[in-house]
Amino acid sequence: MKFYVTTPIYYVNDKPHIGHAYTTIAADILARYKRLMGYRVFFLTGTDEHGKKIEKAAEEMGVSPKELADETHLKFKELWKVLDISYDKFIRTTDPEHEEAVRYFWKKMEESGSIYKGKYVGWYCIPCESFVPSSQVQDGKCPNCSRNIDVIEEESYFFSVERYKKRLIELIEKGDFVKPDFRKEEVLNMIEDLADISISRLRERVWWGIPVPSDERFTIYVWVDALINYISALGYPGGSLMDFWPADVHIVGKDILKFHAIFWPMFLFSVGLEPPRMVFAHGWWKVRGEKMSKSLRNVVDPFEVSSVYGADTLRYFMFREISFGRDGDFSEEAISRRYENDLAKDFGNLVLRISKFAQTNFPGGVRRLGQVSFPDISTEDIFDKWNESMQKLDFSGALNYVFHLISYANRYIDAKAPWELIKSGRMEEAENVVYACAYLVKLIVFMLYPFCPTTCKKIAERYGFPSLLDEVSGLKRDILGYDQVFRISSTGVLFPKLFG
Ligand code: MSP
Repeated sequence: MKFYVTTPIYYVNDKPHIGHAYTTIAADILARYKRLMGYRVFFLTGTDEHGKKIEKAAEEMGVSPKELADETHLKFKELWKVLDISYDKFIRTTDPEHEEAVRYFWKKMEESGSIYKGKYVGWYCIPCESFVPSSQVQDGKCPNCSRNIDVIEEESYFFSVERYKKRLIELIEKGDFVKPDFRKEEVLNMIEDLADISISRLRERVWWGIPVPSDERFTIYVWVDALINYISALGYPGGSLMDFWPADVHIVGKDILKFHAIFWPMFLFSVGLEPPRMVFAHGWWKVRGEKMSKSLRNVVDPFEVSSVYGADTLRYFMFREISFGRDGDFSEEAISRRYENDLAKDFGNLVLRISKFAQTNFPGGVRRLGQVSFPDISTEDIFDKWNESMQKLDFSGALNYVFHLISYANRYIDAKAPWELIKSGRMEEAENVVYACAYLVKLIVFMLYPFCPTTCKKIAERYGFPSLLDEVSGLKRDILGYDQVFRISSTGVLFPKLFG
C-alpha cells in the first residue's frame, strides 16, 4: 500500500504562475486521497535549476544562476504553502546528492553501451530546452512554444534509442502507461520518427550544469539531469526510499510528455531500472483562448487569486471546471461563479444551516434514533463511483458525485423539514433527521477533502469527527458506517460574500 506521485520540477527563471499551481495541486489532490485511503505516500516536487535557460535569465538580471535559483525556488515554496501542498520532499537539481546521482546514472548509461559521441547539427529551443527535429520546424519557430529558435552545430554525446524502441512501444500499447488514452497515438507517432537523442552540450556554450564525468568539456543535457530527480530524490542508487520506485504516476503538462513518456523510460531501461507506472499529461490553461505570456500581460498570478478567493476555491475551481487532461480557460467570472453558486450557496449553506440547527436544538449531541434511509439514492453507490473516479484521476467526475450528494442533501433537509417536526413536538424524529443530514455532511466532507482540505478540516472539527480526515498510512476507516453521535457546533459562514 505505497504510492509515489511527482510533479515536474519547475524552471527557476521566473516566478510561479497558475499553470505550475495546477500541476502541483493535481498531485496534492492525489496524494491526499491516497493517504486518506491508507496508503504510504511519497509526494515529490521541486525545481529545475540548470541549463541555458536559467544561465541566460540570470545573466540578463545581472546575478549568478545559483543566486537566481536560490531566490526563485523560495517563491515556489511560498506558493505551495499558500496552496496547502502536502509534499514530502522538495528537490533542487543543485542539491549535491542529486548531482552525484546524475553522474552515477550517466556512468551506468555509458556502461550499458548506449552512449556514443557524434555531432549535432540542428535546431535548439532555449525556452523549451529542447533539440527540435527539422521536420517539425516551420518558419524557424519552435513547434511547442512558437518562439524563434536557432540552429546549433556542435560535438555532442548521443543516446542510442534503437535498442529500446520495441520495449517502449509494447509498454505504451499494452496498458496504462500513457494517460489519458487519447495521447497514446501521439506518443507512438513520435517514437516512429525518433532519432538518437543528443544528451550533452558543449561546456563553452552551456556552462551552468553538471559536467559529463569522463569528459569535462561537456555539460550533461538539462533534461537528462532533470528527469533523474525522480530517483535521486529517493536516494538513488542505494537510498532507503528506493522501494517507492517505480513511481505510480508522473503528472506532467502535455508539453513535456515526450520527455517523460519516451526519453525517461528509455534512459531507465538502459540502466536496468523499471519505468514509471504511468505518465499522466494534463492540458493547458489559457486566458480568453490565448496562451499566457508576459508579453500579452495575461499571466494569472496564483498568489493573487488565492488571496481573493482562498486556496480551497482555486483548488476546487481548477478541477471542477475542466476535465483533467483537457485544456481550460481561466476567467474571473468563471471562478466567482463557482465560488458563489457551488461553494457558498450549495455547499456552505448546507453545512451551516445543519450546524446552526443542531447547535440550537440538540446542544448535547445528535443521536441516531431510528432508521436512516435515503430515498432515491444509494450513498454506497455514490461513494464507490467517486472512488473509481479518483483512482482514474478523473477529478471533475469525482467532484460531480460530491456535488450530486450536496444537492441531494439540500433537498433531503427541505423535504424532511426538521423545524416543522420540532414545532409539533416530534423531537426524536427531528433528531434522527438531523443525524441523517450530519451523516451526509460527513460523507461529503470526506470526498471533498482532497480538493478543499482547509475547509473540510474546519467542518470536521465543528461536526465532531476531526479524526475522519487523518492522513495516516495503514489506517482503515468505516466511511459509510454510522457513528454513535455527532456533537455539532456552528461552523460560522464558510464562504463569505466576496464584494460587499
Ligand atoms: N523544467 C521542466 C520540467 C522538468 S521535469 C523533469 C519544465 N518546467 S516548467 O516550469 O516550464 O513547466 C512545468 C510544468 O508547468 C509544465 O509541464 C506544465 O505541467 C505546467 N504548466 C506551465 N504552464 C502551463 C499552463 N499554462 N497550463 C497548465 N500547465 C502548464 O517544463
